[in-house]
Amino acid sequence: MEGNMKPITDCEGIPYPVFTTGSVTFCASVDGAKPEGTVYNLKIETFGENARMPLPGQFFMLRSVKSQQLLARPISVFHAEQTPHGVEISFLILLKGKGTQELCNLEADDKVQILGPLGNVFPAPVKPQSESDPKKVLIIGGGIGVAPVAGFAESLPPKSYDFIASFKSGSYGLENIKPEFLTITTDDGSVGFKGMVTAAIDAYKLQIGGYSAVYACGPAPMLNYIKTICEEVNIQCWLSMEARMACGVGVCLGCVIPTQKGNLRCCKDGPVFDSKILTFTKPEPSRLAKPTEPAPVHPDMSVTIKGVKFQNPLIGSSGTFGFGTEYAPVFDVNRLGGISSKGLTLEPKAGNSGIRVWETPSGLMNSIGLQNPGIPHFIEHELPEMLKLKPVAIANLSGSSLETYVEGAKLLDKTQVPVIELNISCPNVSAGGAAFGMSCTSASTVVSAVRSVTSKPLIVKLTPQSPELNSVALACIDAGADGISLCNSFQGVAIDIETGRPVFDKIKAGFGGPAVRPIAVRLIYELYESIHTLPADKQVPIIAIGGIANWKDVVEFIMAGADAVQVGTNTFANPFTMIECIDGLEEYMKRKGLKSLSQIRGIAH
Ligand SMILES: Cc1cc2nc3c(=O)[nH]c(=O)nc-3n(C[C@H](O)[C@H](O)[C@H](O)COP(=O)(O)OP(=O)(O)OC[C@H]3O[C@@H](n4cnc5c(N)ncnc54)[C@H](O)[C@@H]3O)c2cc1C
Ligand SMILES: Cc1cc2nc3c(=O)[nH]c(=O)nc-3n(C[C@H](O)[C@H](O)[C@H](O)COP(=O)(O)O)c2cc1C
Ligand code: FES
Repeated sequence: MEGNMKPITDCEGIPYPVFTTGSVTFCASVDGAKPEGTVYNLKIETFGENARMPLPGQFFMLRSVKSQQLLARPISVFHAEQTPHGVEISFLILLKGKGTQELCNLEADDKVQILGPLGNVFPAPVKPQSESDPKKVLIIGGGIGVAPVAGFAESLPPKSYDFIASFKSGSYGLENIKPEFLTITTDDGSVGFKGMVTAAIDAYKLQIGGYSAVYACGPAPMLNYIKTICEEVNIQCWLSMEARMACGVGVCLGCVIPTQKGNLRCCKDGPVFDSKILTFTKPEPSRLAKPTEPAPVHPDMSVTIKGVKFQNPLIGSSGTFGFGTEYAPVFDVNRLGGISSKGLTLEPKAGNSGIRVWETPSGLMNSIGLQNPGIPHFIEHELPEMLKLKPVAIANLSGSSLETYVEGAKLLDKTQVPVIELNISCPNVSAGGAAFGMSCTSASTVVSAVRSVTSKPLIVKLTPQSPELNSVALACIDAGADGISLCNSFQGVAIDIETGRPVFDKIKAGFGGPAVRPIAVRLIYELYESIHTLPADKQVPIIAIGGIANWKDVVEFIMAGADAVQVGTNTFANPFTMIECIDGLEEYMKRKGLKSLSQIRGIAH
């Protein structure tokens, strides 16, 4: 080490990781992988003193500088070589989700944030001490698990190992290896032997193969099988494991693997482990029944709430879908299940002064303050247009006092509007709004009063801010609510750091969008459990709201217990959100052989 220069490796020669920006030199789908275009070869060059030559078995955390994902993704080194300016590292990447998709879509000269090399290494094979000692090792890769073990094989002398590669279909990643014997298996027989890794190796073949050790990476059931046969014939076995990672350097403790030595970090104590300490557990079975019949051509996506049928569970949420007609030129709003109107008060309301919308990462703050034309105007002008549309029209009723709620409900009761959503949860008004939804007594008072003047189906929209939310929901049901919608906006504060002043005139503002979804799912999950403490004839439907951005979010809420869902903020980001949710939900139902949504409603409990 010279002067203040940091050492590049530790005393055992393991390179210290570095966080740097690499440049893509190559990215293309790999020949031989089936289906085509599912596996990519990504090469990234790092430069100067930030270029670290990784050792076999190590991995990097990769994230495109343009990434939409919060976290980098762990990817093993497939191959690495020195270049005139640094090191070029080659990765094989299987397309799985959004993170790998982004990496596979990179092009030459794109920039990638790269942290590594990380993790331990495959221990070198033990040198034979005598003629009778085994001279070879066996290396096994399953699917994308071929990448790290092929990288390791490359570091060994040619023919000092046999190699088994198992794929579902096709084969790839074997161009740099020089085994004595190469065996390929594929589930569909498209390359090599037909079958899984069990077709290529068992305890007996291991024993007669005369191996000093086995090195493997692949799916957990395969690794468990290899561990078992190695233990049967007492051969040293090193397995490269996978876990979800956040930091990659051993601090978050998110990637631990249960072992006989306790929970070990996959990123720092691994990813290569002695198989003897590993314990594989069977994954919990799916709660979805296996489809027994052919997929329904048109699964029933309809939802009935207090006798009112919605053609599907997607509802435009109040304040984010106007009165239904605004988005009509943009997409076919008639495909929606329902539309909840802008929050309505008895008198017209001008709303709040100052800044009204403020973007945050994955969220939107708003302080509209219930600007609306008033219920009489709504009844005369907006409602007739809403009623012409196919989705169920919902009047979102708000008020500043008990009396105004009641008077508003009386007016709406005389109309054709099929459903009233009683908004006792607006975070942006000084009088009424969320104040009514905060406690059981006030919520119960307003629901009873409104119930007494209307026989229309009454959905009560609650605020997530209440400290006794589930009790408030039960009080509302007791007072006559036919359904609960949750959540209205959360409450936040934003400060303008250039002026030191709160952004919003009313200081606190509503907060929604994808950022709130996990909290909303928790609240729906708890609400479902509370409602299910009631006798069956007292239970009411739940309409979930909070951060829905795609059909998977819809399924998640339904599994948490929702009957229907409302989409708010995300419609601003992508006006087609609800249409995509409907199409995606239908495809999912077909794929899972679901005839109706009741088959998955609440199954997470
Ligand atoms: C040490 C290590 C080395 C790896 N090496 C490679 C490699 O060389 N090539 C490669 O293609 N992949 C490798 N992986 C797996 C890769 O990190 C995940 O497939 C990737 O993080 C998924 O991100 P995504 O955004 O595409 O998918 P997500 O949208 O995050 O998830 C899609 C699916 O992938 C599963 N998944 C997500 N993260 C992981 C994970 N860390 N491990 C296992 N399953 C996961 C999820 O359960 C989900 O079903 C490695 C993982 C580890 C821990
Ligand atoms: C600009 C804006 C205006 C809103 N106005 C109302 C309203 O008038 N009445 C109401 O009940 N909710 C209103 N909301 C709350 C939404 O209906 C929804 O409950 C909340 O945004 C959470 O859903 P999301 O995370 O999908 O946005 C408003 C939300 C936004 C972003
Ligand atoms: S990923 Fe953070 S400790 Fe392993």
